[in-house]
Amino acid sequence: MNNYNFDEYINRKNSDCVKYDGLKKYFNVDDARPMWVADMDFKTPQFILEDLKKVFDKKILGYPIVSHRVYNSIISWYKNRHQISNFDKNDILLTTGVVTALSACIEAFCNIEDEVIIQTPVYFPFFSVVKDNNRKLIINPLKNKKDYYTMDFEDLKSKITSKTKLLILCSPHNPVGRVWSKEELLELAKICYEHNITIISDEIHSDLVFKKFTSFLHLEDKYLENVVILNSPSKTFNLAGLNSSYIICKNDTLKTRLNKVIQKRHIASVNIFGLESIISSYTKGEEWLKMLLFYLQDNIITVEESLKQNGNNITFCKPEATYLLWLNFSKINDSHKNIFSRLLHNAGLALNDGSTFGKEAKHYFRLNIALSKDELIKSLSYLNNEFN
Ligand SMILES: Cc1ncc(COP(=O)(O)O)c(C=O)c1O
Repeated sequence: MNNYNFDEYINRKNSDCVKYDGLKKYFNVDDARPMWVADMDFKTPQFILEDLKKVFDKKILGYPIVSHRVYNSIISWYKNRHQISNFDKNDILLTTGVVTALSACIEAFCNIEDEVIIQTPVYFPFFSVVKDNNRKLIINPLKNKKDYYTMDFEDLKSKITSKTKLLILCSPHNPVGRVWSKEELLELAKICYEHNITIISDEIHSDLVFKKFTSFLHLEDKYLENVVILNSPSKTFNLAGLNSSYIICKNDTLKTRLNKVIQKRHIASVNIFGLESIISSYTKGEEWLKMLLFYLQDNIITVEESLKQNGNNITFCKPEATYLLWLNFSKINDSHKNIFSRLLHNAGLALNDGSTFGKEAKHYFRLNIALSKDELIKSLSYLNNEFN
């Protein structure tokens, strides 16, 4: 029995949310069906909204302290959900967002002009955080076989130099939807260990998986010396506006360096709602998440069937994680630019332009399917009408 109503339509227009009210700014259109930025059109779970209301009910919104409940909730979530129990409270550092934490890691772990590797196509702030911190970006493209992506270890090894200090891993991967296997992570860990490269593993999508997730924390201790994990309940429980996240780091030297930057940048002060949302998500969220994952899988099948009926002009590889589909338009006989324009102006759909995730992603566009089935079906009919 589904206790949660993912079919509910919530009108988000004029609510100051970027997904709808940012269409003019980001797409230069007054109206479109927004299938882009990675938040969901599902209501944030009721139990979280109620816990946040209790914060209001205290009547004073002064400075919070980070209670042991926050740390305990993170530790017990990892233990129950991912069978990970090899870190403790002292290994957790709070930050005001994953990208914020990523930027701090770059300053903490390498020097100006040092090299940082990313694996493209990938979540586009990975490019800007490296460049904005004046580090050198090295691209290790993923291998693409019929839209199933794997890591290219030979290319990776060939690009490592004495200046290569960091690798930013997206695990699971946005936008290609891979959940990396233990073998793939181990191979990556070995290469980085040999060359003394620190891995920043962004695991923000780790709960939104349709197969078992392997975290870097599942690997043997030797490799964890070189690894920092970034995470947040924000993607899973639709809380992105609360800007709350955390880092897990087991290496004391890295932790000290990171703490220095976090203090310098003043990015540890998660607000009272963010703190409460971590506790609420991680202590009460299991059942809701289970239902969400069922719903998302069903939406993915809906897309698959709809595109098939339309002659498979648009294809995608079923994601192992996330609600973001990496659609391949290369069978459409048109330029990338025209396809983007046709999506937006003819079909009235605002998708993320694949080329922002990497230059190899021509003819790719990212579709967010975290919305009610009825609304998804409407969007698919506009898509199919335009590209039939
Ligand atoms: C891989 C990845 N990391 C980080 C973020 C954003 O995290 P935050 O809002 O905490 O900066 C996203 C959002 O889509 C993401 O996909």
